[in-house]
Amino acid sequence: MKNILVIGSTGQIGSELTMKLRGLYPEGNVVAGYIPGAEPKGQLLESGPSAVVDITDSRQIADAVERYDVDTIYNLAALLSAVAEAKPQLAWKIGLGGLFNTLEVAREKGCAVFTPSSIGSFGLSTPHTKTPQDTIQRPDTMYGVTKVSGELLSDYYAKRFGVDTRSVRFPGLISYVAPPGGGTTDYAVDIYYAAVKGETFKCPLKPGTLMDMMYMPDALRAAVEIMEADPARLKHRNSFNIASMSFDPEEIFTKIKEYVPEFKMVYELDPLRQHIADSWPDSLDDTCAREEWDWKPEYDLDAMTRDMLKNLKIKLEVNN
Ligand code: SER
Repeated sequence: MKNILVIGSTGQIGSELTMKLRGLYPEGNVVAGYIPGAEPKGQLLESGPSAVVDITDSRQIADAVERYDVDTIYNLAALLSAVAEAKPQLAWKIGLGGLFNTLEVAREKGCAVFTPSSIGSFGLSTPHTKTPQDTIQRPDTMYGVTKVSGELLSDYYAKRFGVDTRSVRFPGLISYVAPPGGGTTDYAVDIYYAAVKGETFKCPLKPGTLMDMMYMPDALRAAVEIMEADPARLKHRNSFNIASMSFDPEEIFTKIKEYVPEFKMVYELDPLRQHIADSWPDSLDDTCAREEWDWKPEYDLDAMTRDMLKNLKIKLEVNN
């Protein structure tokens, strides 16, 4: 990778991944693509070039690629699962139409492309425990439909046109930096904010709802490592299961209580999110990622919880 374009650089993953990439690659080589209304600010704006890149406009993608001589595109434009259910047409336009535009530009200009897939690419008929790398993918959400279609389209472009497409299936991502919006796994971020603010957490999912989760530093490292992996070792491309921890609302609540003993949680179920969560795996088998590009997570629930609480106290200026 020499010159990188991040599409969706001001979103949940993009805002942190852009900064990580800028720390790894030479100054000026990582372009922050954004849409009007979601401009980069502060460090993200000041630390490197930025360009308007609306993924639904292939001309804008091509212009940025030409102008900055881009050879690698990180495509992070997407609507999360619950929002995508509310706006399925827009979710398709951004998720699949946008990916098609990106792959076409990549084919013409010779770029590698990373497009995250998700635990959302699985569905009710998928084996839920230790979900294998290659298995049934019949999601019944628009988010899942765009993710599994995106995996197929990316593999097609690799096989048919030689475009270097690679990706991972992200679990729910947890971070204290940019808040997620409209996802099913977001509760596992919101719960930390409630604990640090001294509020009772209203949990939208019922006890026993297991889902794979990951701390953002591990997810960012995965996104970099898969793109740097030796292609000769890759038997898979789109997309690799990656995993680090799996828990239900009771487990994360109990873990937080170890550090915030007065913390309280009540259940106020959201039927849409519960349905989506029930259709997703309880835990993923990431053996292929470990074997093909040496994937290894660093954070478990305890290490993540300590880091989240410490950093959120600083961010929210809570002293105790
Ligand atoms: N975090 C995403 C969501 O909940 C899943 O990939 O929508």
